[in-house]
Amino acid sequence: MELQFTRHRRLRTSASMRALVRENHLKAEDFIYPLFIVEGENIQNEVSSMPGVFQISMDHLENEMQEIVSLGIKSVILFGVPQTKDECGQGAYHDHGIVQVATRFIKEKFPEIIVVADTCLCEYTSHGHCGVVEGDKVLNDESLELLVKTAVSQAQAGADIIAPSNMMDGFVAAIRSGLDEAGFIDVPIMSYAVKYSSAFYGPFRDAADSTPQFGDRKTYQMDPANRLEALREAESDVEEGADFLIVKPGMPYLDIVRDVKNNFKLPVVVYNVSGEYSMIKAAAINGWIDEKKTVLELLIGMKRAGADLIITYFAKDAVRWLAEE
Ligand code: PBG
Repeated sequence: MELQFTRHRRLRTSASMRALVRENHLKAEDFIYPLFIVEGENIQNEVSSMPGVFQISMDHLENEMQEIVSLGIKSVILFGVPQTKDECGQGAYHDHGIVQVATRFIKEKFPEIIVVADTCLCEYTSHGHCGVVEGDKVLNDESLELLVKTAVSQAQAGADIIAPSNMMDGFVAAIRSGLDEAGFIDVPIMSYAVKYSSAFYGPFRDAADSTPQFGDRKTYQMDPANRLEALREAESDVEEGADFLIVKPGMPYLDIVRDVKNNFKLPVVVYNVSGEYSMIKAAAINGWIDEKKTVLELLIGMKRAGADLIITYFAKDAVRWLAEE
């Protein structure tokens, strides 16, 4: 009897054959590494829910950057952890704010590194919301002004890319015109275009001390049940002048990554968020999974889904592991 079927296994017969037909690859340039810079001195606090991730003060930044550069990582995203907070998050747009100080330092000592500044207020506001609060409401248009001030002061400090993450409507339009008016026509906007209201941000809020003091972020971040809404969000950001589109979180939203990749022509960035990191770390520490294999599979899955870039706390480990392969 002559059977008719296809021998898919021919292309899997050896490691070399598999390498020959591999469709996606990971490289150091794919990664953006998040840094938490804390005001103060001689601080190197491991975030309890994120083993291997540290809040560092400025005096530790040079060592950290040397390691990042030596691994071949080309880009970092900066989050600030200020010592004092207030109602309108002044630390976010202060000329001597911690992100501005760290940006100036990195651009002076490591000019080839791309500094992405996360543009948000929640780390700097006493109420922990990402905008201006009145009663129990987060006001949209009033928040835009502060966001523009933050973006311009980050660009003045030398930030290469502005990454607004607060999910107010019109933030790309407002920041684009603010940057242009201030002379920063060449500074791109990496918009957190599609940001879901997610439980996976829990550990980040420990790291950045940005938990909302009342309510939640559901009036500005997206409902996890929605798919078309992601396309509407991305579309308006493209129209307003975004240069990159972020989808966040990563793991539970790879369908959205593919949708955004298929529908728009801008580079797509996936944020492999804190909770995704912590889950894998916890399982690895318990010996339940092989951390290296799991992480590389996760990251290649993100590229396969359509990511051009990945913001990930695993960046340093991943680059080391890739070199071992
Ligand atoms: C700030 C911001 C958050 C994250 C990145 N920027 C937290 C939030 O929206 O509550 C989360 C990143 C992570 O979980 O790794 N708005």
